[in-house]
Amino acid sequence: MVRVAVIGLGYWGPNLVRNFYAILGNNLCVCCDIDPERTQAIRQAYPSVRITNNPEDVFADPDIDAVAIATPVHTHYELASAAIKAGKAVLVEMPMCRSLENAEKLVALANERNAILMVDHVFLYSPPVRRMKEIVDAGDLGDLLFIDCVRINLGLFKHDVNVAWSLAPHDLSIVDHMVGRLPNAVSAFGASHTSNGVEDVAYLNLDYGNDLIANFHVNWLSPTKIRYAMIGGSKKSLIYNDLDPAERLKVYDRGIRIREDDLEGRRRTLVDHRTGDVWCPHVPRVEPLKRVTAHFIDCVQNQKQPLTDGKAGLRIVRILEAAERSIKARGSRVTIET
Ligand SMILES: NC(=O)c1ccc[n+]([C@@H]2O[C@H](COP(=O)([O-])OP(=O)(O)OC[C@H]3O[C@@H](n4cnc5c(N)ncnc54)[C@H](O)[C@@H]3O)[C@@H](O)[C@H]2O)c1
Repeated sequence: MVRVAVIGLGYWGPNLVRNFYAILGNNLCVCCDIDPERTQAIRQAYPSVRITNNPEDVFADPDIDAVAIATPVHTHYELASAAIKAGKAVLVEMPMCRSLENAEKLVALANERNAILMVDHVFLYSPPVRRMKEIVDAGDLGDLLFIDCVRINLGLFKHDVNVAWSLAPHDLSIVDHMVGRLPNAVSAFGASHTSNGVEDVAYLNLDYGNDLIANFHVNWLSPTKIRYAMIGGSKKSLIYNDLDPAERLKVYDRGIRIREDDLEGRRRTLVDHRTGDVWCPHVPRVEPLKRVTAHFIDCVQNQKQPLTDGKAGLRIVRILEAAERSIKARGSRVTIET
C-alpha cells in the first residue's frame, strides 16, 4: 500500500485527508501545514497521523511515496517540484500552477523524472460529468455548437488569484474533457470591486474553431449560487445543473431544422424549430474526491497515467493565463499558442 502525505490543511486539504484516510488508514502517514492551528485541528481528528509544520520533513522522509498538495496556488510549483525531486508522486490542487512558465517546467520535470503528476480536476471524477462525457462521445448531441457555463455565488475572496483562476478551472476542465482540444483564442472581461484590484467577476469567451464557442461566467458577488452548464449540439442539447439533486442532467431533443427555399425565385434560408422529448439520465451519488484519491493511489501503485495528468493541468493554466492577459487588455482576443 502506498504511503501518502497531505500538505495544506486549510479549507480543502481536510477533505483530501478524510478521503485518503478512508482508503489508506494509517498509510496516510503525515499531514503538514505551516500554520500550527491547522495541524492541531487535524491532530485532534486523526490522532494516529504524524503532524509537521515543515514541508521539508515530508520531502526528506523516504517512507513517503506520494504527496497531495492543497496549499494556495502561488505555492504549488515550488512544493510540487520539490516533491518530485525528492522522488514522490504528486497530486496537486487545481489550478496546477500560477503561471504558464511554471506549469511547463513542472510537466517537463515530471516527464524527466518519470514521476506521476496528477491535478485535482475533481469534476472529471463526478458521476454527472462522466455521464456527460459518454453522451458527447456517443455522438448523441451531434456537432457541438455552443457551451455556456455559470459558476457564481457569494464567494470566499482569494488574495493571490482572481475569480477566474479560483473558479473557472472547474468548468474549463469539464469543457476540455468534452471537447478534447485547446481553444484557438480567448477573449475575457473582468472587474474588481475591492481596493486590491483582484477581479471578483469575470466572463471568458473561448473560440474553439469549427463554429464552436464557449462562455464561462464566474463571480464572487452573486447573491445566489448557480452551478450550471449547457452544451448545445446539432442534434440534441444537454443541461447540467449540479444543484438539482433529482435532475442533475437533462438531455433535450430540441433544436432547429434549416431549409433552403426558392420561393418566388429568391433563395432563402428558413429555420424551423424542432421539439422532442426531454430525458433525465440517472447519475449515482458518489463523492468525486473519493474517486480522485482512489485513482491517484491506483496510478501510484500501478504506474498508470492519471486521467487528469500534468498535461491536462497545463492546458487549463494556458487558458487561464491567456484569459488574464485578455482581461488586462480589456477583452482583446488572445491567441492560444501550443
Ligand atoms: N478541487 C477543488 O474543488 C478545490 C476546492 C477548493 C480549493 N481548491 C484548491 O485547493 C488549494 C487550497 O485552497 P484552500 O481554499 O484550501 O486554501 P486555504 O487558504 O484555506 O488553505 C491553504 C493552507 O495551506 C497552508 N500553507 C500555505 N503555504 C504553505 C506551505 N508552503 N507549506 C505548507 N502549508 C502551507 C496555509 O497555512 C493554509 O492552511 C488551492 O489551490 C485551491 O484552488 C480546490
